[in-house]
Amino acid sequence: MAPPANRAVWQDAPAAPGVIRDSTIPGSDELGDHKVLVKVHAWAINPCDYMLQDRDMGLAYPMILGCDVAGTVEAVVPGSPAASKFSVGDRVFGFCANNGFQEYVVLEDKLMAKVPDNMAYREPVVLGLCIATSAMFLFGEDYLQLEYPRPGAPKNGKSVLIWGGSSAVGSNAIQLVTAAGYDAIATCSKKNFDYVKSLGAAQVFDYKDADVTEKLVAELDKGECAGIFMAAGLKDGNAAAIKVAAASKQTLKFASSNFIENLEEIPKGVEVKQLSPGSFKPFPICWFETTPATFEGYLPQALASGAYKIAPPPLVINNKGLEGIQEAIDLQRMIGEKGQEGVKAAFIRAKGEVNEDEVTPVKLIVERA
Ligand SMILES: NC(=O)c1ccc[n+]([C@@H]2O[C@H](COP(=O)([O-])OP(=O)(O)OC[C@H]3O[C@@H](n4cnc5c(N)ncnc54)[C@H](OP(=O)(O)O)[C@@H]3O)[C@@H](O)[C@H]2O)c1
Repeated sequence: MAPPANRAVWQDAPAAPGVIRDSTIPGSDELGDHKVLVKVHAWAINPCDYMLQDRDMGLAYPMILGCDVAGTVEAVVPGSPAASKFSVGDRVFGFCANNGFQEYVVLEDKLMAKVPDNMAYREPVVLGLCIATSAMFLFGEDYLQLEYPRPGAPKNGKSVLIWGGSSAVGSNAIQLVTAAGYDAIATCSKKNFDYVKSLGAAQVFDYKDADVTEKLVAELDKGECAGIFMAAGLKDGNAAAIKVAAASKQTLKFASSNFIENLEEIPKGVEVKQLSPGSFKPFPICWFETTPATFEGYLPQALASGAYKIAPPPLVINNKGLEGIQEAIDLQRMIGEKGQEGVKAAFIRAKGEVNEDEVTPVKLIVERA
């Protein structure tokens, strides 16, 4: 059967808005053993989408941005390992490293899972890239090497500091370490304390508090801290979290969602867990090792049982399909630049009005028309 026609939002040059035109689509026989073709019904937006759109990252143009998608399985090679997990028509969610802003997207079978029956696409689509990123840094052999989450894991008496617990990556990190038995100690703004606690954080601290370093060190040094994960704060998160690690009486492992620079300046007592630029595992292989915490292990069952929360909650910006992607990228950029004011603007765009008390962290979503 001839593959269906495909369209994509093309990035033709840095700092240009996306342009919609045709794109190629692999035939079902071209997918190979571990790839699945998905017809997309919902796309989630990440900060990297506007950052990659705005800057010249040395990428080969034209290219297609976008990572998080949910939809229905359109094709899988019969008899392949992927076909033993997914069938045509299955409702699925997952992510790819760019190439997501298309009508039809190819996903790795290790980086996708079925959508629970009672869930709309807009819900699990928020998770893909962020849970995989969190899992890699928390559980990966090159990073914090924490114990994996599992249903009913007993508390192990150790803590993990999640710096930036209200971010999309942090929202997943809190849930994952808590499900593995650790006490999640998190930082965020005061307005997000309830949100972060609702994800399972044992203690929450305001990172803008002048005494936050001392308060966190006192908390972490009450017992054994298994590590620090910096999940937000592009400009200053690493420095602030390293300050905590250095002041602790324990030698603390530290991993970050943003590259840690000037390693020669890292103080004693901080064990940075980071690969050198030349040793990075390429996409998508870097996410495969830790799928026991995500798509191939803990996540599907925890999601279906309600143990794992959809966080940050989805905020549907439009249902214009590909025609609505650029608007959502622009709103994500506004959130990145203006913080809470940007989030309010997104609420007003989505709901027509905003009640200050209802503004929580959100993940922007575009749905198929
Ligand atoms: N999204 C991904 O999948 C992904 C993948 C790889 C790497 N990363 C990196 O991970 C980081 C988080 O990404 P994200 O998508 O999760 O971001 P996000 O959801 O847009 O996070 C924004 C939130 O981060 C918090 N924040 C900002 N500055 C902070 C600071 N100095 N200390 C603590 N919290 C701070 C703020 O929380 P409050 O409102 O509570 O102040 C803000 O609302 C980014 O720096 C990104 O480069 C993300």
